[in-house]
Amino acid sequence: MLDIFTIGDDVLRQQTVPVKEFDDALRLLVDAMFDTMMEADGVGLAAPQIGVSKRIFVVDTRREGERIAFINPEIIQSSPDSVPYEEGCLSVPGVYHDVLRPSRIVVQAQDVRGKNFTVNADGVLARVIQHENDHLYGKLFVDRLTEDEREKVLQQYNRKHRRKRK
Ligand code: NI
Repeated sequence: MLDIFTIGDDVLRQQTVPVKEFDDALRLLVDAMFDTMMEADGVGLAAPQIGVSKRIFVVDTRREGERIAFINPEIIQSSPDSVPYEEGCLSVPGVYHDVLRPSRIVVQAQDVRGKNFTVNADGVLARVIQHENDHLYGKLFVDRLTEDEREKVLQQYNRKHRRKRK
């Protein structure tokens, strides 16, 4: 299991670079990301969260056919609506808040062998993909809240984690 970086760590704010080599090292990394995500009981994990600034994320919404690794993903279409859904993040553990995002998206990506694929997603899958895709741009779900909401959530987070800090 890999260490998951949490809010405050610089690596979560860095821009990511595309994957160029579709080799065994990539497949091992993706396997380790799936294991880490499952162990942490998450539904998605992006490479920056384990300290790797590359365009990779994995999702598993616990539905059949929805355990997917996305390499070099691009969201190429988003529905014009904006719907609330409660989000959390393994990098901001223990706090949750409704976030507004489009309900449907189309995403293009490559698999671990470099093969292109397209996913039309709605519901939880669309939500998780958009959340993970944000990580590739150094963005966390709290950045998408209003200033008041963000302040409240971060206060809650700090209260929760104060005792664990040095
Ligand atoms: Ni996250």
